[in-house]
Amino acid sequence: MTLNPNFQALKASYLFADIGKKVREYQAANPGADVIRLGIGDVTRPLPRASIEAMHKAVDDMARAETFVGYPTDAGIHFLEDAVIADYALRGVALAQDEIFLSDGAKSDTGNIGDIFGTDNVVAVCDPVYPVYVDTNVMAGRKIILLPCNAENDFAPPLPGEHADIVYLCSPNNPTGTAMDAAQLKAWVDWANAHGSVLLYDGAYEAFITEGLPRSIFEIPGARTCAIEFRSFSKTAGFTGVRCAYTVVPKELQCGGVSVNALWGRRQATKFNGVSYITQRGAEATFTPEGRAQVRANIAYYLNNAGTIRAGLQSLGFRVWGGVNSPYVWFAAKHGMGSWELFDLLLNEVQVVGTPGSGFGPAGKGYFRLTGFGTAERTAEAVERIRGRLG
Ligand code: MLT
Repeated sequence: MTLNPNFQALKASYLFADIGKKVREYQAANPGADVIRLGIGDVTRPLPRASIEAMHKAVDDMARAETFVGYPTDAGIHFLEDAVIADYALRGVALAQDEIFLSDGAKSDTGNIGDIFGTDNVVAVCDPVYPVYVDTNVMAGRKIILLPCNAENDFAPPLPGEHADIVYLCSPNNPTGTAMDAAQLKAWVDWANAHGSVLLYDGAYEAFITEGLPRSIFEIPGARTCAIEFRSFSKTAGFTGVRCAYTVVPKELQCGGVSVNALWGRRQATKFNGVSYITQRGAEATFTPEGRAQVRANIAYYLNNAGTIRAGLQSLGFRVWGGVNSPYVWFAAKHGMGSWELFDLLLNEVQVVGTPGSGFGPAGKGYFRLTGFGTAERTAEAVERIRGRLG
């Protein structure tokens, strides 16, 4: 028996597991401590009412032989894909049913997509970056190059200075909260088409865009020959505990005459039996008029929290990014303080949990991330606690 040697090249543990462990240890040592968690981007608002009602009804469907659904992939049901198609059409993007692949999460898909690409490909990721893109490619043994995003380029990823076959882009970005405009996305699409590279575009946070920016890479001419897009109901509709997402693979995307869409379909058909019927009904309901209104209200709530954090930090003299088109607020620590140093200070002295920027890559050193996914009251309190200590 041998093990995948690439796993030896991984960091010992996953960033959010490290943070969770530190917080648990702190709470065990300080049982009365009132800890406010603005670390991992997990939602706190309940599911939209429309989804709850649709899921209750779907449970009843499962109770009757006439409406029961077995393997969703074999049941010939496509109502969720159709709702997604209608949603893209509102932004002028035309998709076919078989270009949409439902899944349990953008985390899984952005990692699993590597199955269909050669391990000799060079992968470019932004630095700082959502750790899943890096770790899954380390597991596959691929060479990874970093695209430094920093205060000088306003955390907008620069085009690679060397060859890259696969590029992960995330906009609005996790962790920095910055979002790319149409001109920036067009530059990436043109670069990818010119180099025969593929863009893996993570749009998990598109619902948070407020400034009229593109919400999909497919709004950019030329993207259908070079891009795959990942989307999720997790942050959009509070599905982190339900699990539902989708990946769009256009049929024009080819590699050496082979359809990437067909390969991803083959991979999914082999390793995945589809999203549960009840979950799909809950996700479908987010596209109804009531569902949309409820989703918008939840997003507005989180954006308001992000605005509270952003304004609070700015008033304390921090340089801040994000929080406008994103639930994430990214800021530079002051006085040369390190990311983990600030993490420890905030946890130990004011009991606020954030995410150290250095956990997202070398360019995150000296930065810190807070999320708008808490409750409004606790978010406001966290900002006041930070003000009391760092103001
Ligand atoms: C984060 O905090 O970056 C996210 O919650 C991670 C995720 O979505 O998997």
